Amino acid sequence: MIRFQEDYSLKRFNTFGVEAKTKYYFEFTESEELVEFIKANESFTELNKLILGGGSNYLFISDFDGIVLHPAIPGIRVLGEDHQWVYIEAGAGVIWDDLVEYAVNEGWGGMENLSAIPGNIGATPVQNIGAYGAEAADVIHEVNLVMFSGERRQLTNPECQFGYRQSIFKNELRDQGVVTSVVFKLAKEPIFNLEYGAVKDAVEKLGEISLKNIRKAIIEIRDEKLPAPTKIGSGGSFFMNPVVDAIQYSELISNHPKMPSFKLSENEFKVAAGWLIDQCGWKGYRKGDAGVHDKQALVLVNHGNATGEEIARLACEIQLSVKKKFNIELYPEVIIVGKK
Ligand code: EPU
Repeated sequence: MIRFQEDYSLKRFNTFGVEAKTKYYFEFTESEELVEFIKANESFTELNKLILGGGSNYLFISDFDGIVLHPAIPGIRVLGEDHQWVYIEAGAGVIWDDLVEYAVNEGWGGMENLSAIPGNIGATPVQNIGAYGAEAADVIHEVNLVMFSGERRQLTNPECQFGYRQSIFKNELRDQGVVTSVVFKLAKEPIFNLEYGAVKDAVEKLGEISLKNIRKAIIEIRDEKLPAPTKIGSGGSFFMNPVVDAIQYSELISNHPKMPSFKLSENEFKVAAGWLIDQCGWKGYRKGDAGVHDKQALVLVNHGNATGEEIARLACEIQLSVKKKFNIELYPEVIIVGKK
């Protein structure tokens, strides 16, 4: 297997399915391989680096002038357990949903609400993936990394500084290392989390409340609203849900009493970006092959041959229209890579 490539196409490594090439590409199945690669290549420090797992959160708008590191480290193993918890380690290359399925089948709780999120294990702590009232931070115990210096590091959950789609890996440790494996802490006696809107009804329709039925219900809800990654290119939610202050919130809610929102604190309210975009009339919009999903306005899609630039341009138009109508700034959750 050739692990190192030059001028390599990333089309099958990004869920938007856009064409882009990287100058260098390196794939590794053990953390030691990466350490050796770093030690053997003096020019490594100077190269632009991009870590690409499942590629579900990147939009390429041009070729990448640097090295793409693709962690393909496999394996799920039980590290230990006590009367309450099971600790399992998964390699960065494991598909997130394969791990969720495994945990649910074993009867271990904590991940079931995060069923069917695309992407690999390596990205879960970086992005602190979240859905249906749960987030990766709830189950992450430790994160193992190889730093670009070649040194190994291990961070505990509090050291990861998790927030809404945020972590130390996006801030202080950004572009400084690669997650090689994650240790998760799962509950032997699961506590079911059915707080989020549609989940409870969907589970009850399936029968008893169990991990398997929660997983099934979440997969059904996602299938209804989100495009199947194998059928149509997308990066999930394109924007983060914005947070407004109390003054702006009271003004907004008096003008739009139906606006979905969530109180974070006395002075912070999270507003549904999908609703804002929908209100601006974008749902189902299409220009060429770049479009807005017809069932969820927060998701931008590639109907076939859209370029990254076309999708990015559409995202800009959406940001401008939301700014104009609601005076709210939307920030992408998807990371845009390349030259503008
Ligand atoms: N809404 C509309 N029109 C739309 C889309 C949404 O009116 O076109 C309304 C919905 O009816 C609902 C509200 O906006 O009242 C919020 O929508 P939804 O419940 O679908 O969730 P979301 O806030 O859009 C977030 C995450 C998703 C996650 C879901 C479920 C972000 C940016 N997105 O979406 O995560 O699956 O909650 O928990 O936080 C992802 O990050 O890629 C992702 C898919």
